[in-house]
Amino acid sequence: MFRTNTCGELRLSDAGKSVTLAGWVQRARKMGGMTFVDIRDRYGLTQIVFNSENDAALCEAANKLGREFVIQVTGTVRERESKNANLPTGDIEIIATELKVLNRSDVPPFTIEDDTDGGDDLRMKYRYLDLRRGCVRRNLELRHRMAFEIRRYLDSKGFLEVETPVLIKSTPEGARDFVVPSRMNPGEFYALPQSPQTFKQLLMVSGFDRYFQIVKCFRDEDLRADRQPEFTQIDCEMSFVEQEDVLQMFEGLVKHIFKYVKDIDFSEPFPRMTWADAMRLYGSDKPDTRFGMEFVELKDLTEGSGFSVMDDAKYVGAIVAPGCAGYTRKQLDQLTDFVKRPQIGAKGMMWVKLEDDGSIKSSVGKFFTDEQIRTWLERGAAKPGDLMLILAGDTMKTRKQLCELRLEMGSRLGLRDPQKFSCLWVIDFPLFEWDDETQRYYAMHHPFTAPNPDDIDMLDSDTGAVRATAYDMVVNGNELGGGSIRIHDAELQDKMFHLLGLSEEDARYKFGFLMNAFKFGAPPHGGLAFGFDRFVSILAGLDSIRDVIAFPKNNSGRDMMIDAPSRIDDSQLQELAIEVAIAEEENK
Ligand code: AMO
Repeated sequence: MFRTNTCGELRLSDAGKSVTLAGWVQRARKMGGMTFVDIRDRYGLTQIVFNSENDAALCEAANKLGREFVIQVTGTVRERESKNANLPTGDIEIIATELKVLNRSDVPPFTIEDDTDGGDDLRMKYRYLDLRRGCVRRNLELRHRMAFEIRRYLDSKGFLEVETPVLIKSTPEGARDFVVPSRMNPGEFYALPQSPQTFKQLLMVSGFDRYFQIVKCFRDEDLRADRQPEFTQIDCEMSFVEQEDVLQMFEGLVKHIFKYVKDIDFSEPFPRMTWADAMRLYGSDKPDTRFGMEFVELKDLTEGSGFSVMDDAKYVGAIVAPGCAGYTRKQLDQLTDFVKRPQIGAKGMMWVKLEDDGSIKSSVGKFFTDEQIRTWLERGAAKPGDLMLILAGDTMKTRKQLCELRLEMGSRLGLRDPQKFSCLWVIDFPLFEWDDETQRYYAMHHPFTAPNPDDIDMLDSDTGAVRATAYDMVVNGNELGGGSIRIHDAELQDKMFHLLGLSEEDARYKFGFLMNAFKFGAPPHGGLAFGFDRFVSILAGLDSIRDVIAFPKNNSGRDMMIDAPSRIDDSQLQELAIEVAIAEEENK
């Protein structure tokens, strides 16, 4: 037997037992005639003691062990003199009687401990070593646990997990497709799915009724902390449902996960907010509702002062930061610099302090009387000691800027605790989004989303105002998932393509298979997809989804470990009938 126990298993009740452990050397320390070696495996860490008085040769061998050597040790469990309360095995140690080096190791490029000295790039290059660190491994354990619970819940509700193809037809859904050349069909390409959207709808036409899949999706888009070029969705679809059925079913899933993975009970239904309210109160379709600080609209109260910043603005909005009236000039300047950053783009920021004694100080005192300013504070329900921060400008842009300011203040005030979870459905999204650059409408969700039945009459007359039957699940300011009730009527789908500027020919070329299928009795259906990586990272309290993916890509979409993407041989290119236009030097 290689081992009798794991390195995380032994306790005081095992004292006196003879055991054999196998694992990696975390650390070895020589202290007088004794050598202490911490041995690690997936399950934990155990201290091994080599005593030169008992066996000098064995102790000598232990002194030669380096970090990350793989060893097998046999010995006797005994109670430790100086216990380590931070370690589950901290009450015991093993007095070694045998040591076998199973494999040697080069000195690792960074310390394999929770508190490591390795930078991001180095850890990505040696990801297999990074994965030995307990804090990284725990994220993957959480991921496994969640995947298991997701399957358990969905199975109990009658969902079938069906795999859909990875080599499909290029039908960009919003992001760019990754494409794969076909050797057997020279000059033609597959695309990797941005999601299994059309396939799950086809499965509904096939009568599968309740489908799910934990599935890889691929999108060639600019990367951020919450985006990877390949990521995983919990993709779901149901037949014969209305929006309410879908929301209930998947609210149930989210609650199940919180309960069985985090032991958190949400007894109340998740709040629901319309997209319009989310934009009005938080300037975002994914508001962080762990804290209040909702927007206060002041345009009507600021009109006609002669202060052009406010007079010329379409929108004047504020937030009230509780207890921040004590902010110094320097702190206010810092906040102004924050909103003026190019990524945020505000021109400036105004402020009003309601001092503890009820007096007012502000940056706009020249233009408004205290009485006027007091009406703003009243609307914002400001209390003595509060600080009002005000932005003015174009409505949508200013709301987005105010959203960033609100999040910044939330962080500064410690209101965004990663261990607190606030879940929310955002509903009633617009069906279309107008793009100034290309002068056309785009589907806000995707082209298969059904319009709200009450708004169908407006499709031609007031296209931009039509609401979709679409919904997003938002947790702590992250879009965890989204979906919609689908169009199941070929005529309405045709109309939708037309409104999106797709010619009939284009629509047939790209989506002919779906439109054909709809001719054969498509049931009413709808569904949603959660971002699985995001779900795990939120539960782990992490900012980046990279930390919950075993082998992630960096921000340039590279896998630093296997060094991909990479060039391919000329012979491979020839076989694929592909010529690369970039000169070799440029490619480097
Ligand atoms: P959507 O495009 O909103 O919907 O994607 C669903 C969820 O997937 C996650 N997500 C991502 N996670 C990591 N990296 C990315 N690049 C990335 N892109 C998206 C998000 C998002 O909420 N087919 C529809 C779903 C449906 O209508 O049923 C879809 O893909 O958490």
